[in-house]
Amino acid sequence: MKDIETRNDIELLVNSFYDKVKADKTIGYIFNDVAAVDWILHLPKMYSFWETVLLGKMSFKGNPMVKHIQLSKKTEMSKKQFDHWLKLWNTIIDEHFEGITATEAKQRGKNIAGLMLHKIESYAN
Ligand code: HEM
Repeated sequence: MKDIETRNDIELLVNSFYDKVKADKTIGYIFNDVAAVDWILHLPKMYSFWETVLLGKMSFKGNPMVKHIQLSKKTEMSKKQFDHWLKLWNTIIDEHFEGITATEAKQRGKNIAGLMLHKIESYAN
């Protein structure tokens, strides 16, 4: 297996991840029903996000923290959902890639998920 090295690798990773997410019993409904995500718009954003985080391309512009805090006002976004998100993320990485960047992708996913959960809990009212 190879490491995550190119934009193509990122696209494969993100596409496979959201295929799994969409069909997932625990968090799929948040994307499909609560947010009714427009995948044509969302997927390219996520390619840019992970390209920025992992390949240093600086192509992502957005504010993920605010988006997820807003989402947490509409539906439960707690440790259960974030742990499950992370489990799917790690599984999909391990299915396709191995190496330094693949390991970093899992670490960054874990750190950002932890930070998001922390922000959501601090803004909860
Ligand atoms: C239970 C966990 C999560 C759920 C249910 C979730 C759900 C969503 C949804 C529905 C959107 C679309 C929001 C919109 O466009 O209105 C979104 C956007 C996004 N998510 Fe998540 N997310 C989760 C965790 C994460 C984590 C851990 C990361 C990063 C490691 C992440 C990164 C992003 C990014 C970068 C966007 C795009 C933000 C933007 O448009 O500026 N998400 N998420």
